[in-house]
Amino acid sequence: MSTNDIGKRKLRLAMIGGGPGALIGEVHRKAARLDGRIELVAGAFSSHPEKSRQQGRELFLDPERVYASWREMLKAEAALSAERRVDAVAIVTPNHLHFEQSAAALAAGFHVIQDKPLTLNLAEAVELREAVRKSGKIFALTHTYTGYPMVKLARDLIRAGRLGKLRKIVAEYPQGWLFRKVEDDPGNKRASWRTDPAQAGSGCLGDIGTHIANLSETVSSLKIREIAANVSTMVEGRKNDDNADILARWEGNVSGVIRASQVETGEDNDIGIRVYGDAASLQWRHGDPERLLLRYPDKPMETWSRGQPYVAAASPSAARATRLPACHPEGIIEAFANIYLNAAAAIAAAEAGTPIPEAELDFPTIEDGFQGILFVEAALASAKNGGRWTKLARG
Ligand SMILES: NC(=O)c1ccc[n+]([C@@H]2O[C@H](COP(=O)([O-])OP(=O)(O)OC[C@H]3O[C@@H](n4cnc5c(N)ncnc54)[C@H](O)[C@@H]3O)[C@@H](O)[C@H]2O)c1
Repeated sequence: MSTNDIGKRKLRLAMIGGGPGALIGEVHRKAARLDGRIELVAGAFSSHPEKSRQQGRELFLDPERVYASWREMLKAEAALSAERRVDAVAIVTPNHLHFEQSAAALAAGFHVIQDKPLTLNLAEAVELREAVRKSGKIFALTHTYTGYPMVKLARDLIRAGRLGKLRKIVAEYPQGWLFRKVEDDPGNKRASWRTDPAQAGSGCLGDIGTHIANLSETVSSLKIREIAANVSTMVEGRKNDDNADILARWEGNVSGVIRASQVETGEDNDIGIRVYGDAASLQWRHGDPERLLLRYPDKPMETWSRGQPYVAAASPSAARATRLPACHPEGIIEAFANIYLNAAAAIAAAEAGTPIPEAELDFPTIEDGFQGILFVEAALASAKNGGRWTKLARG
């Protein structure tokens, strides 16, 4: 079967990164295979050829399609017949590699599913956005939390006017795992590259600030316009930011707070958002992802549960993103899988030359990635100027 038969067969995926012991590569793999529509057939899983081969063996991949380097993989896969070569490349490497690997994958003719942040800086983001436009390929960015059904429900309830006119957003991403200089612990590579500006770009801002900024924009359907940021490095001797407390204004004069921290001691990963309108407010938290709370001034709070028929009635997108009945908990693998499913459908449509159905265009794109980098750059610029209000430059 050729490239444009993707809708009638499994999408063939390659992966860059996600070698032995990596954090997010295995989550991507589990998510990609969850619905049986995507098959991982090739990979360059590590910068060390032997580790790449080890990962390939653990995944029972054809050794001929487990490569010593990502450049070799792109070249070899592009040279294969249309019946064999991969359709898309998942990029799950540290941040400094995103730009060149994504740009090269697009140039070699592949669709791209990349993890955040988009790039190390704005110059790379501008160039990559141009490369995506020119390539005509699908580019999905895995802002995980947008994949949750109850986040889609929150967005759709706001779009339907359930909160009235929006006034305020409080969005926070508290983590505590960098509470001390764990990057100095032997073998803690995950912490060492994240706290090294050369490999990570910004620290906390790029790592989790981009997630929470994107969640606020996804749920409200409003772009952040300007911010006043206090960005700090709280752990002595650390080379990168580990905490950001930010005042923000979104489109429509909505005002509020965005917080991201990796030094809030004892915190896990409970990203959450509250949105206040003049008629009602809502709350979603990753620690309780199956429920959306709605609060009113004149009646008791409502708790909406994923999988219930009233959720499907209010949000077809939430229903599409739901696999199990209510109170059969779904989680992060499913949220990632929803991004993969919609991206795969968009890739199939793009290859067939048919319009992408709107319901399937429900995943973060290059534009979300670009906005994330604008957010990071504005936060750093604001902090440098003593927290002065700073507009997100428009691209
Ligand atoms: N969406 C999310 O929720 C989420 C969560 C965690 C991480 N991430 C992002 O995913 C990316 C990876 O993060 P991680 O925590 O998995 O990092 P990690 O350090 O655990 O894994 C990185 C992997 O990339 C491999 N790698 C490094 N250089 C390579 C190269 N040249 N060629 C091939 N492979 C190479 C490493 O060997 C390793 O296997 C980062 O950009 C991070 O921001 C996203």
